[in-house]
Amino acid sequence: MTDRDATRLPGSFPRVRMRRNRASAWSRALVREHALTPADLIWPIFVQEQDGRTPIASMPGQDRLGPDVLVDAVGRAAELGIPAIALFPYVTDDKKTEACEEAWNPDNLVCRSLRAIRAAGLQIGLICDVALDPYNSNGHDGLVVDGRIVNDPTLEALCKQAVTQADAGGDVQAPSDMMDGRIAAIRDALDAADHHDQAILSYAAKYASAYYGPFRDAVGSGGALKGDKKTYQMDPANTDEAVREAALDLAEGADLLMVKPGLPYLDVLRRVRHELGAPTFAYQVSGEYAQLCAAAANGWLDREKVVLETLLCFKRAGADAVLSYFAVEAAGLLARG
Ligand code: PBG
Repeated sequence: MTDRDATRLPGSFPRVRMRRNRASAWSRALVREHALTPADLIWPIFVQEQDGRTPIASMPGQDRLGPDVLVDAVGRAAELGIPAIALFPYVTDDKKTEACEEAWNPDNLVCRSLRAIRAAGLQIGLICDVALDPYNSNGHDGLVVDGRIVNDPTLEALCKQAVTQADAGGDVQAPSDMMDGRIAAIRDALDAADHHDQAILSYAAKYASAYYGPFRDAVGSGGALKGDKKTYQMDPANTDEAVREAALDLAEGADLLMVKPGLPYLDVLRRVRHELGAPTFAYQVSGEYAQLCAAAANGWLDREKVVLETLLCFKRAGADAVLSYFAVEAAGLLARG
């Protein structure tokens, strides 16, 4: 039944009273169309070289995790029933170059983190970001030549990065760079390296959004960034283009799709999920996290309620899973009931 059929069902007041089904908790439970469970959540984690935790000022409650605390934190997420985490590295300035070689250094921070989590035998999926920005001295996701972000040379770098991360124990390579042709190139490179079972999660529709600000603080790429990302990330004004991007990525071999940011782009999520019928994730990004934290800290919103409500809204719009910095908190709330 389409949305329109549903609104055309016959009947009218006073025989029809929509409030009957809402009248008690038991009947609300029976007619509930969507549910949020810990299995819907993916936790993005920031990792750092040195031991300990470093708070991220613009993302209160999220810390960069050092090698000594990472495995325990991931173990706690696994215990809560969170199926996967996504790793993002804080790369120090001395390791950033124009050629971004650190991205495919088999001993870089991401690879060491992957190996440590693998060695602990945790049952949790490991999603790796594929993009050059943390390693790039100019903060861009692609290689920059004469002030332009060059597509095809970037593909070669991304392939090396993806294969290196797969070698280190990643399960899913998630290109977030928005270069053209990257899914096919990465698929071929993974297959050539015998990583046939490595999945690709495409950030298929990633918008040039102001909501990424706190993330750039968290990975330390904001200061380096020269200019903006509008020549590769999408224009927030467009939706047909998002469906085309996602269709192309599926044709190139993507296993999973993502739409990003999250809540302000639920219309895009819904279209991509329903028109293409492929598993589609949403990313509740750093700025959305910061926004809710700030309002809750001021006492203007009830944090727990609004966190669970926003995550449920992603499910209603069609998301198969949601990347969220609230993942651990929300899974804890769901476990408490
Ligand atoms: C970069 C990347 C970004 C995010 C994930 N991967 C930022 C950007 O494109 O500048 C944003 C995530 C967030 O804001 O939470 N490859």
